[in-house]
Amino acid sequence: MTDLTRSPEIDAFLDKVAGLDNPTSEGSPRVRAIVRKIVADLFDTIDQFDVSEDEFWHALNFLAAGAPEFGLWAPGLGFEHFLDVRQDAKDVAGGLAQGTPRTIEGPLYVGGAPLVESGARIDDGSDAGEPLVMHGHIRDLDGRPVAGAVVDVWHANTKGNYSHFDPSQSDYNMRRRIKADANGRYEFRSILPFGYSVPPGGSTDRLLRAIGRHGNRPAHIHFFVSAPGHRHLTTQINIDGDPFLHDDFAYATRDDLIPPVAHKTDPGDIHAAGFNAPYAEIAFDFVLAPAEQPQAERLSARPRMLVA
Ligand code: BEZ
Ligand code: FE
Repeated sequence: MTDLTRSPEIDAFLDKVAGLDNPTSEGSPRVRAIVRKIVADLFDTIDQFDVSEDEFWHALNFLAAGAPEFGLWAPGLGFEHFLDVRQDAKDVAGGLAQGTPRTIEGPLYVGGAPLVESGARIDDGSDAGEPLVMHGHIRDLDGRPVAGAVVDVWHANTKGNYSHFDPSQSDYNMRRRIKADANGRYEFRSILPFGYSVPPGGSTDRLLRAIGRHGNRPAHIHFFVSAPGHRHLTTQINIDGDPFLHDDFAYATRDDLIPPVAHKTDPGDIHAAGFNAPYAEIAFDFVLAPAEQPQAERLSARPRMLVA
């Protein structure tokens, strides 16, 4: 460490780099301040670890080549979870009540899934996984049903792959927007998903291996739950018993998001539920907090896929 980054010369240089020496020029003061902080922290890192030129250019090229997987780096390096933790802390500080815990969206949502009635089957039948029925109610903080709520659900198949990103699956397989009924009840049928793994040999995989980590997620099901007058909820449930349940590379597991999975094998149960083989049943209620402002009803502005 040279302590160069503490010197007045480097301080002044950082101001120049971030456009702070000419504050009347065009540009945003907030962006200037953030750029200065990020560059200063990286200068410090280079100094502290005596990063060589070879290492610097290797890192820059690794970032440039890895950019198509930044959607995986964000959860893998904990940024998505940190944004959730910060939002939770802001809610607590602002006295805002929380319903079902939020947890990360991840990069695999596709907008515009068909809007269907409660009870619909959302898989196309091509994956012989364990049949699943999941159901519950959407309620407000006082326990009142939220009629007309929409549950936008998406999950992987038994290979841990998602339709759209896996071109071998049909459009919107295991993706639907489910309209809750007048009592706030939702239900859908599908198959139990398996856990996701980052693409082998990709930039995320190489980055995680370099720090002795893996890129596996436990089996899970994603949800956006929305209704007028209520805060938009982004969450997931994990499938209990998965070996990665508490070792998710994306840090999405939360204690209240692990409902029991009932594996039904009794022929009477199977027949009554309309299946012809043993199936899994998950009961899970969503609790929505009131929207403190109209924007709270909406999804964040993150760029998302949309099938044309
Ligand atoms: C997922 O939800 O499946 C996911 C989340 C973060 C990174 C990769 C995948
Ligand atoms: Fe997922």
